[in-house]
This record gives sequence, C-alpha cells and structure tokens, in this order.
Amino acid sequence: MSAKNSFKWPYPRLIAHRGGGYLAPENTLSAIRCGHANGFGMVEFDVKLSQDNSLILMHDDTIDRTSNGTGLAATKTFNELSALDFGSWHSARYAGEQIPTFLAVARFAQENRLFCNIEIKPCPEREEETGMLVAQAAQQWWRHSQFPPLLSSFSRKALACAQKTAPELARAWLNDDLPHNFIDILEELDCVAINLKESLLDQEKINRIHQAGYKVCAWTVNDYQRAKQLLAWGCDALFTDELLRVTPDLA
Ligand code: G3P
Ligand code: MG
Repeated sequence: MSAKNSFKWPYPRLIAHRGGGYLAPENTLSAIRCGHANGFGMVEFDVKLSQDNSLILMHDDTIDRTSNGTGLAATKTFNELSALDFGSWHSARYAGEQIPTFLAVARFAQENRLFCNIEIKPCPEREEETGMLVAQAAQQWWRHSQFPPLLSSFSRKALACAQKTAPELARAWLNDDLPHNFIDILEELDCVAINLKESLLDQEKINRIHQAGYKVCAWTVNDYQRAKQLLAWGCDALFTDELLRVTPDLA
C-alpha cells in the first residue's frame, strides 16, 4: 500500500521555520528551544553533511551568512565548524551559539514531544549520501517515537535515497513550482505530502492535491491574513518565521 494511504498524518498545522523563525539564529538548538517555548508543536530545520560526514543543521551552502567564518560548508570538518560562532550574526544574546548536531536536536525533540520536519538540504554533489545518512539516523533515533518525523527535500535524488534507506519514514517533496506531472513524482517517491511555496497556492490547487490523496504544506507564510486564508482553504500545515504573529492558536 502506498504511504499516502497508510500513513496517519499526525502533524500540527503550524510549523516554526528553521526552528525559531526570526526570533533566534536559524538552525541552532536555541532556535529549536525557542520554537517549542513559543507553543509550536513542530519545527522545521535543514540538515546537511560536514566534510567529514557529520550531520549538522545549516541552510546555506556557505557558512558566511550565519557564522563568523567563511567558505563552503562542504569543505569544513565538524571540529572546524564547532569552533565558530553561529549566533552573533543574529543578536548579541546568542553570541557563542555553536552549530548543532542533528543528534542533539533529535534528543531535544524526543524529550519535549516535538514533531520535526527534517529538510534534507545536501551540499552540491552530495545528494545521495546526504539522503541516505539523514534517513539512516532518523530511522535509528525516532525508532520507537510517538512523534514520527517528516522528511522533505527539494532534491529528488536525496528523497529517493531516503526512501530506499528508510521507506517507513514519511516523506514530502518540496518545490517552488507545481509541475503538470507532480502526481507522478509524488507517487515515484512514495510521498505523503507536497511542501509548496505559499504564493503558488489557491483553493483550486489545494483541492487538486487533496483529490490526488496528498497533504499540502505551504512555506513560508509570514502574514496573518494569508495564513488564515490558506488554513481556511484546507492547507494541512504552514511554515512561519513570524512566531509571534502567525501563532499556534490560529490553527
Ligand atoms: O521546508 C520549507 C522551507 O524551509 C523550504 O525552503 O529555503 O527555507 O529551506 P528553505
Ligand atoms: Mg528549510
């Protein structure tokens, strides 16, 4: 049976983007704590591999924007990344924040009954191995959890490797377009959902996705009225950076 038919969607309708949205330095443990502390039952974060194959949280290909270092993340070992400050770029309050491991975040989520959307965000040329290693780790760390993670990626190669490694973990294909053959792609990757750029969505598209048997999540929704509209149209979940405006009571 396909995942879309057998998987019981357990996720809340609001998801804190990159952990704590704008309130904390993205993709850090402080950000995840912040999302949780602000009442969010689910957080999204981006996972990639360091040069020496540690699973770390980071969005960009380079470390320039979110740390006091420079260069490609793919060329840095975990020890090199650990020596950097991933908090000061955001605010003095977070000075000295270290890059988190995926394992540290998994532990926090488990202990605090927090759902996770694990976005597989491979460094260039590392799509397959990142998909495989993220899925392997998630399979092990969430094995007996009542809070199953949702794996997602823009990379179809990474998702296909995640599917092969841990077919039982729920998957969503991420995209900034709704191609005419989207159902074929979701079927091929045995996804339960499509995570789409919010500006693409309207009532007709949401209905079309639902009729095909898939859930739909919208990123990134930072306007309160737009969030209300998308939820009223039946959008299954929204990612937001505005944790104090697009609040969980909305859903
Ligand atoms: O997973 C939703 C959203 O995070 C996708 O875009 O670039 O913020 O990772 P990005
Ligand atoms: Mg992301």
